[in-house]
Amino acid sequence: MHSPTSLNRRQWLKATGAALAGLTLAPRIALRAEPAPNATPVPVPPGPVQLCWNENPFGPSPRAIEAMQREVPRVHRYPFNLTPELVKRLAAKEGVSTDHIVAGVGSGEILETYGVYLGRQRGEVITASPGYMQMTDAMQRMGSRVVSVPLNDRLEYDLEAMAAKITPETKAVYICNPNNPSGTIVEPARLRAFAIAAAKKVPVFIDEAYLQCSDHFAANTMVGLVREGHNVTVARTFSKLYGLAGQRMGYGIMPPEMAKGLREFMNGSVNLLGVVGALASLEDPTYVEATRRKIKAGRDALIAVLQEHGRKYAEPQGNFVFFHTGIPITEFSQRMRAENVIVARPFAPLTEWCRISIGSPEEMAVCHAALRKVLSA
Ligand SMILES: Cc1ncc(COP(=O)(O)O)c(C=O)c1O
Repeated sequence: MHSPTSLNRRQWLKATGAALAGLTLAPRIALRAEPAPNATPVPVPPGPVQLCWNENPFGPSPRAIEAMQREVPRVHRYPFNLTPELVKRLAAKEGVSTDHIVAGVGSGEILETYGVYLGRQRGEVITASPGYMQMTDAMQRMGSRVVSVPLNDRLEYDLEAMAAKITPETKAVYICNPNNPSGTIVEPARLRAFAIAAAKKVPVFIDEAYLQCSDHFAANTMVGLVREGHNVTVARTFSKLYGLAGQRMGYGIMPPEMAKGLREFMNGSVNLLGVVGALASLEDPTYVEATRRKIKAGRDALIAVLQEHGRKYAEPQGNFVFFHTGIPITEFSQRMRAENVIVARPFAPLTEWCRISIGSPEEMAVCHAALRKVLSA
């Protein structure tokens, strides 16, 4: 295995060229062989290591790649016949009827549409800061006001403070669990009690984009609240653990009335190869679990480097780690960039904190070396 810095451009082109040749041959090969449990490592391209977008460096399941390759000749068709199959499969997986499922162009489309749908009331939306703003920004664009409650000193949600902010003006509550950028998770019994109480007054949106990367998905998912009939929406994505960010596939699980309302504002169709990739990914739990373990190993190794340098970090459960740099984030980002690593943007008001996504072991080796240099300077 080449270290990322030792791959020159010609070697990289050769490696990716071989991978592309493999792409064309794969359908024939796949007829004879079961996909291997682990995908071929993706070569690290020359240039900086990009650890800023919480992508999954291990890529999708080999079965998903194979299924998408097989479907390429049919991309002149709309996915109208195939999407209901995915919706049926998702409904069975989540334990709800199909009228609870809304498929989106990434979970981003679900967040945006939910924000537009509820934002028209021009009320308030309660969320945490710093947090992921796609849904609340959409509400704001429609004329609503964002009420941000600071995370507590462990950079976790302060549910009591959020509950206290609910007024007749509140039109929605947004919870990101694990939170982006802090990566922290809310204790499930507390989140459940909060969501049930809040949902009696206003719609509650729980963004579980990163929950499948966490150590205990089943104990923490709030999809049971949708099943029980509460006014709760849970969003999931194929972009993170399933490694299909470029295919833009996500979905929401929500009360049928909410689903009906949202659909009126949506594009109405997703991406054919995204549907095919998602369906195949769901059939490969072994690969997905192996990926989750690799992400956890990446988190643990990154934490070890931070501990070496006595840096504080938020307890991470996503595919990223958020930590205290000790210097202004703009300066820290520049120093990391000089060492060939791109970290995430600043997250005000925590202007000395940095979010780094878990990359491949090769990318993380570059990152660890950079961190050791920058943190000990
Ligand atoms: C918390 C959170 N929710 C939702 C999304 C949207 O992801 P996608 O549209 O790829 O499903 C992201 C993207 O990074 C995210 O961080």
